[in-house]
Amino acid sequence: MTAPASSPVPAAPTTPFPEGFLWGTATASHQVEGGNVNNDVWLYEHVPGTMYAESSGDACDHYTRYREDIALLASLGLNSYRFSLEWSRIEPAEGEFSAVAIAHYRDMLRACREHGLTPIVTYHHFTSPQWLIARGGWEDAGTPALFARYCRRVTQELGDLFDIACTMNEPNLAILLGEMGMCEREPAQRFGNPTWEGAARALGTTADKVAGFQLSATPQAYEIKCAAHKAAVQAIKAVKPDMQVGWTLANSDFHAAPGGEERVARMNEENNLRYLRVSEGDDFVGLQTYNRTVLGPDGPVPPEEGAVLNQGGEEIWPWAIGAVVRQAWDAVKMPIYVTENGLNTGDDTQRVDFLRTAIGEVGAAIADGVDVRGYMCWSAMDNFEWIFGYGPKFGIIAVDRDTQARTPKPSAHILGEIAQSNGAVLNR
Ligand code: BGC
Repeated sequence: MTAPASSPVPAAPTTPFPEGFLWGTATASHQVEGGNVNNDVWLYEHVPGTMYAESSGDACDHYTRYREDIALLASLGLNSYRFSLEWSRIEPAEGEFSAVAIAHYRDMLRACREHGLTPIVTYHHFTSPQWLIARGGWEDAGTPALFARYCRRVTQELGDLFDIACTMNEPNLAILLGEMGMCEREPAQRFGNPTWEGAARALGTTADKVAGFQLSATPQAYEIKCAAHKAAVQAIKAVKPDMQVGWTLANSDFHAAPGGEERVARMNEENNLRYLRVSEGDDFVGLQTYNRTVLGPDGPVPPEEGAVLNQGGEEIWPWAIGAVVRQAWDAVKMPIYVTENGLNTGDDTQRVDFLRTAIGEVGAAIADGVDVRGYMCWSAMDNFEWIFGYGPKFGIIAVDRDTQARTPKPSAHILGEIAQSNGAVLNR
């Protein structure tokens, strides 16, 4: 892996990271909590013929172990933690809110504050209550108002304990996956897919109507997600006007293989720019990028011979986050948080190199005037990686799947040192 000439790793001696820069890791409720039996993904995991490699099961038991996990993250030297609230726990039935679930998240937020971690709270990270999907999910016109009601309630109950809110995570991931042929672009294409058929039977609906958040790349889902985000921002601001609110986008660094220029232009627009425009007026935009996407005239092209690959078979390309951050700044000139960036690898030395280069790219962008305010590494710990189950390892902390024991990897300590020095160690 060699640095592209256009985005050199920045040289010493000064650190460009502003005072108060947030350094942390990110997780999502379903990927770490365990026992999230009331959301749609749990259902998809368990239908006959499911596309999910395995059940999320107990995940990392973060729902019980959050206090020790938060203490561990703080002990590494980090000053922030991004995590998500599980809507299906907070509102297990339509209109019915759980005081116990709310108390749980209050205590998580308190634990963050006790340990000096600034919380970044995501209200929705891919999973939805099963009742929402049964009534049409992310393609139903009623969803924005239901999402806004949930966001209002959460802000009323928890909003005194945090100041940075992400309404929803990666509304555009499905567009990227759709380009890779990994999800349906029209509702009717869901017929015949065992996961959607099985879920439809369980929910008393039809497969075309099983519109989960993560994998719905339809035009209807685009409209509903954007409307839901707008309604959520309003609802949150109505309760707490000074809450910093934004959403987090899976923008990609698109590169053209010969003949792929038009496709790159189309995907830049469909996947990145139109979502950035929807962000305008928000307090910030969260960006999350893992690698680049190389497109030829017929779609994504596989990595070249000899390229170094991650566990998903994609080329390791840490420079992508710098390009994405710069593109967003040029497009909308808004404050940016890197809300996810990281590497799935069984070789932690690769992760260390990746983090140094990627964070260096963010630093170089800041030095050029881009307003980036934080960097959250995905992920705090090895966790449930959606359809791929527990195979891919994104964590800076290893989790023993039998005992749940946590072991920080060298990358955890290095990220901590980078945080403690506010980026200065990158120059040594
Ligand atoms: C998501 C995470 C996911 C990560 C790595 C992002 O798309 O927000 O939930 O685990 O990428 O694949």
